[in-house]
Amino acid sequence: MGKEKLQIISSFTIYDNINELTSEEHLLILKSKEATKTAYAPYSNFHVGAAILLNNNEIVVGNNQENSAYPSGLCAERVAVFYAGATFPNVTIKCIAISTSGNQTVSPCGACRQALIEYEYKQKSKIKIILCSEDKKIIVSESVANLLPLQFDASFLKK
Ligand code: THU
Repeated sequence: MGKEKLQIISSFTIYDNINELTSEEHLLILKSKEATKTAYAPYSNFHVGAAILLNNNEIVVGNNQENSAYPSGLCAERVAVFYAGATFPNVTIKCIAISTSGNQTVSPCGACRQALIEYEYKQKSKIKIILCSEDKKIIVSESVANLLPLQFDASFLKK
């Protein structure tokens, strides 16, 4: 009998200003912000936009789509990543930027982290996450795994 402590460290880079990021990332942030404008969020009135940069330089966007039966709606991140997976199934996802219409820096919910990490396994490479805000700090994670320690993956399904 015994016990040990497992400590998992997540690290992020915090930028004070959008201009400290690359021009490619800057554009992705602008696209995610733009996507908040067409979110369908009449119930929460919380508008989220996500923009995904693919390895072929395409940018695909998504935003939250709510429903009167609340759980039937979907977050911006999953709308965007499923759209990317459906449209460009064999193209690597490099980065996702997430914005709100307000000035908060929003962080993806647990279900979106799980949905996103599936694509890291699928493509065998990391997806960078940029959590944006116009006048607050921008938080960057180099991978989805960094946001989801002890994640569930396909290895659990193998007998
Ligand atoms: N939402 C997102 O789209 N992404 C997030 O990262 C957090 C929450 C949406 C879901 C729902 O439509 C609204 O924001 C309020 O939770």
